[in-house]
Amino acid sequence: MRKLEELKTGKAKRLYNTDDATVLWVEYLDQATALNGKRKEKIASKGALNNQIDCLLFNYLIQNGIATDFIRQVSATEQLIHPVKMIPLEVVVRNLASGSFQRKFATTYLQPLSRPIVELFYKSDALDDPFINDDQVEVLGLASAAELAAIKQLALQINQLLQSRFAQANLTLVDFKIEVGYLAGQLVLADEISPDSCRLVDQTTQASLDKDVFRKQTGDLTTVYQEVLTRLQNSEVAHVSR
Ligand code: TMP
Repeated sequence: MRKLEELKTGKAKRLYNTDDATVLWVEYLDQATALNGKRKEKIASKGALNNQIDCLLFNYLIQNGIATDFIRQVSATEQLIHPVKMIPLEVVVRNLASGSFQRKFATTYLQPLSRPIVELFYKSDALDDPFINDDQVEVLGLASAAELAAIKQLALQINQLLQSRFAQANLTLVDFKIEVGYLAGQLVLADEISPDSCRLVDQTTQASLDKDVFRKQTGDLTTVYQEVLTRLQNSEVAHVSR
């Protein structure tokens, strides 16, 4: 497999095509952004940490029956994926109140929700990824009602799996964002799952172990991402050997 020319550079990843039309090469970058890209910083090791966390979580989800675009990790900062026809939605699942939900409804931080909820955002940098409801998704032709039902079901299934995997690492999954699309006609999980796209708190101390430390400038991103990776790796060994 050979990496050919660059196709696109996003906020945290660079995409290349390869000599195989069914394979894309992804490089995770040492870059962090906040405020929809308005604040940008170079952070050493971030690419390697996120790629390793993402590969570990996608492998776990695949082992548990989730269809994804992921093929394999190729280096500390790189992985191979299949090209996917992306649905331009950010699908957020929440278990506890935080972030925009907490601000919007003036709830208490980490207030438990009576059940996990799904929120949808229209993926558009120009529009700042606005909240979008089911009717709006349908009339804009982004997804049909049946497709939306399947997307929400997939998101909630991934939530259950991730909650139990993070719990093994003594982490509570507060909320997360996924992106989905179609691969050979099948709805699949795509893009990334990492502390950039999840909120995680320590089960005991409730300390934040995710990008909130960068967004709120309350801690060192590399230190907390390394902590998440180490805990996941250690609990993976414990899980397999049981
Ligand atoms: P929010 O509370 O700011 O709406 O974020 C909900 C979840 O989605 C949180 O885990 C962070 C993640 N997220 C992204 O991955 N990308 C984004 O652009 C935003 C706004 C949130």
